[in-house]
Amino acid sequence: MIKIGIRFKFIFFTSLLIATIGLASSWFFSTQTRSQLEEELKKRGYSLIAQLAQDGEVKDSMTVAQKAFFEEPIRRLRNLDIERELAYWRVLLTQDNILLEEKEKWIKTEIDKIPVHKNIDGITAPVFNVFTTDNGEQFYNFIVPIHEKQTIAEEEFAAQFFGLEEDSDQNEEKLLGIIQIGLTPERINKKMQVVLWTRSIPLGFIIVLVGIGVSYFIASGVVKPVKLLVKTTDKVASGDLSQKVEISSKDEIGLLASQFNQMTKNLKQLIDEKEGVMDELKNVNKELSLINNELVQKNEQLNEAQEQLVRTEKLAAVGTLASGVSHELRNPLSAIKNAVFLLKRKLSRKAMPDIDEKIVQFLDIMDNEIDRCSKIINDLLGFTRVSKPTRFSSDINTVVNEALSRVVIAKNIKLSKTLQPNLPMIMIDANQIDQVLINLVENACQAMVDGGELKISSKVSEGFMEIEISDSGCGIPEKEVKKIFDPLFTTKPSGTGIGLAVCHGIMQKHNGAINVKSQEGIGTKMFIRLPLEDKDAGSV
Ligand SMILES: Nc1ncnc2c1ncn2[C@@H]1O[C@H](COP(=O)(O)OP(=O)(O)OP(=O)(O)O)[C@@H](O)[C@H]1O
Ligand SMILES: [Mg+2]
Repeated sequence: MIKIGIRFKFIFFTSLLIATIGLASSWFFSTQTRSQLEEELKKRGYSLIAQLAQDGEVKDSMTVAQKAFFEEPIRRLRNLDIERELAYWRVLLTQDNILLEEKEKWIKTEIDKIPVHKNIDGITAPVFNVFTTDNGEQFYNFIVPIHEKQTIAEEEFAAQFFGLEEDSDQNEEKLLGIIQIGLTPERINKKMQVVLWTRSIPLGFIIVLVGIGVSYFIASGVVKPVKLLVKTTDKVASGDLSQKVEISSKDEIGLLASQFNQMTKNLKQLIDEKEGVMDELKNVNKELSLINNELVQKNEQLNEAQEQLVRTEKLAAVGTLASGVSHELRNPLSAIKNAVFLLKRKLSRKAMPDIDEKIVQFLDIMDNEIDRCSKIINDLLGFTRVSKPTRFSSDINTVVNEALSRVVIAKNIKLSKTLQPNLPMIMIDANQIDQVLINLVENACQAMVDGGELKISSKVSEGFMEIEISDSGCGIPEKEVKKIFDPLFTTKPSGTGIGLAVCHGIMQKHNGAINVKSQEGIGTKMFIRLPLEDKDAGSV
């Protein structure tokens, strides 16, 4: 949509008003001039016809009804018509007896088309009228009755024309006829044209121009500050609050500008204050979130420490119980083992060829199971007796290879090693770490009964030696992950649940850590971390 500015509207309407006034005054001026010119024409008309009416020669001509006698009076009349406005003249003796009728050549209307007065006998006083012929020519028509004796003064004659004097004693005289003359207002029209083109139109044009100029000047005075105000408001609305309206006038617009400036100033102050508060809030929020993070970290550490404590206590309790029970079971188990040994000797097929085959089988089972029980007891005792590590500077990759060589890895398991070369030497009890690695590799292999991939890697990360053992086995269900380091937790029919508890104990004694990541059905990753610099370890 086209936007029409206030300046345009102001100039347009003011100019329209001034143009209307200009046109009205031009019209008034033209009308005045015209009526003045018409009045003068009328006066000239009656003056001419009065000359004719008072001409003795005219009366004589009419008395004798001699047309030729009119030549001289008409010539005089035409001489008097300096402005060349006389259009036609006619002399009537009676209603139907036209003595003379003539017109100027330049008049287009035929003389017989110029109306004759209907009742010439009824004319007692001069008649004046204006008529327009069919072809558009206009005439000022003057008729005067001519009596036998007429000595009327020019002023009286004029008075009779304009109806100012009623009484007339010519009525008593014999009417010789009437004289009719016509004057054309052509000259007035031409003069009016001249007036129109030389005065009215230029005057109107000047008035309109002056009007536009004046209204433009006024509009500039009024609209300029308003426009400035609008421009500044726009800038303020788009966020630039440093804007000020520079209007120093003492009128309403000046007042509006100063109030607008004050308002912008207040707004800026408010926004500055708000931004200050927002900044403070942001800082407080930042601090709060830092404190919160710290709290979350501390909470996690606390939980871990608590879990560690519980596990250590559990281990200690189980250890004490296990060592007591193991110790007590060891001797009876040795006695049973010896007894079985003796029974096997006495009841062998060599000594008794006809012995029942089942007795030999049962004795073998008893012997094997006693061995298994001894292993469990030994494991339990080994677990409770995890001694303080005896550390030596060792190469972790050598320890890893050593451990792998001691585990039987099934053929359906693919082993891949990514051991970072030139790893720093580390102070560890190689036997204990070896035991940890064997346990982890065994667990991984036991999780991949149907085969899979076993990956072992070593690297240094963030001040720790890190070893990762991952398998593509059965994985550990989420709810069991937390329990796997608990002593005696096992999901295997022939497992003791000691392996990972021992690993955990060894790692603790090395100030290291053991962690797990597992997904059921996908596999398990076990991580062990050993500090490169350990205050308890001595130097490499
Ligand atoms: N790599 C693994 N994949 C799947 N489950 C595992 C893995 N490692 C450990 N587990 C689970 O953790 C349990 C505890 O393991 P841990 O080594 O302590 O005992 P175990 O292997 O059952 O018996 P053992 O005392 O003979 O080692 C396992 O029974 C098994 O359920
Ligand atoms: Mg195990």
